[in-house]
Amino acid sequence: MNTPYYLCEEKLFRRNLELLKRVSDESGVKVLLALKGFAFSGLASLVSEYLSGCTCSGLHEAKFAKEYFGGEIHTYAPAFKDNEIDEISSLSHHIVFNSFAQLNRYRDRVKGSIGLRVNPEVSSSPVELYNPCGLYSRLGITSKNFNQDDLEGVEGLHFHALCEQDADALEEVLKSFESKWSDVISTCKWINFGGGHHITKKGYDVEKLIKLIKDFKKRYDVEVYIEPGEAVGWQTGALHVSVLDIVENDMKIAILDSSAEAHMPDTIAMPYRAEVRDAGKPHEKKYTYRLAGNTCLAGDIMGDYSFDTPLHVGDKIIFEDQIHYTIVKNTTFNGIKLPDLVILRENGELEVVKKFGYEEYRRRN
Ligand SMILES: Cc1ncc(COP(=O)(O)O)c(C=O)c1O
Repeated sequence: MNTPYYLCEEKLFRRNLELLKRVSDESGVKVLLALKGFAFSGLASLVSEYLSGCTCSGLHEAKFAKEYFGGEIHTYAPAFKDNEIDEISSLSHHIVFNSFAQLNRYRDRVKGSIGLRVNPEVSSSPVELYNPCGLYSRLGITSKNFNQDDLEGVEGLHFHALCEQDADALEEVLKSFESKWSDVISTCKWINFGGGHHITKKGYDVEKLIKLIKDFKKRYDVEVYIEPGEAVGWQTGALHVSVLDIVENDMKIAILDSSAEAHMPDTIAMPYRAEVRDAGKPHEKKYTYRLAGNTCLAGDIMGDYSFDTPLHVGDKIIFEDQIHYTIVKNTTFNGIKLPDLVILRENGELEVVKKFGYEEYRRRN
């Protein structure tokens, strides 16, 4: 198969879905897939078997949810547009507004259930770029700006304050959320605890999450939703690429037919070091290389890795855990080819779901 391509393993993916379903069965929470983190049409029918629906960031994701996933569609955006709100409304079971101004502008055009996103003003998000409760955050209404007298038609509250975090962090957020809005929560039909719950990561305290949700539901008698993205696609597959050339500049640098910037953007934005199959940290193994992208960006670097044997042109490099927040963020920067989308089905068959080429670049430029 020609590189680059993302290879998602159905077996691993189903394992994540099974765990999320268990959380749902044992706590009564409804779990929605956050399409912003994972939107792979080839696995949509599997998602629908286990989860209650999708959470969407606007019109395009809502249309995609309707076309491929089924189930409930919840849509939240920092701001909705006049020429899109009616279509979003016709697709969405829940619409969550980010401000009272938006609520008042569009309240009468919403067909489904209306919610407001609030900012619980507590978050231990590891990186400021991904901190929804950071200084001057535009994401959610703070308690100071919350108008209890303007809740006509509002049936739910939504918060999203976590990023790759454990149930302990959720517990802290819940304390703050309840201390600020318990009166409103008591009048709601539903509460959405957002995403950022790292449920499928090894060591996540699943029992604690279940207890937190059950206790909350006992206190308020409301429907509770969570909307993970990363936890759905977590460790379900890899990005497969090839070595194109090896250059020298005080170290060996392998140029790959891929790009950190275009295909693994969080390695730069977050930033973090992706695991490479059969490779170690620099100098841990005998041969160390910098792995770098085939673009003009000087910082288009995946990182430094060591290998047991020297790399050669044509060798395959496999970056682990590259299914979430990659495919959905890909660009054609420098005209670089988008990685194809491939699924390793449980019966061992490889299914190429999407093949990309010049057409994507041409259509977008
Ligand atoms: C409102 C909202 N919900 C859900 C998510 C999904 O978060 P995660 O993929 O970290 O679970 C995000 C991510 O940014 C979000 O902004």
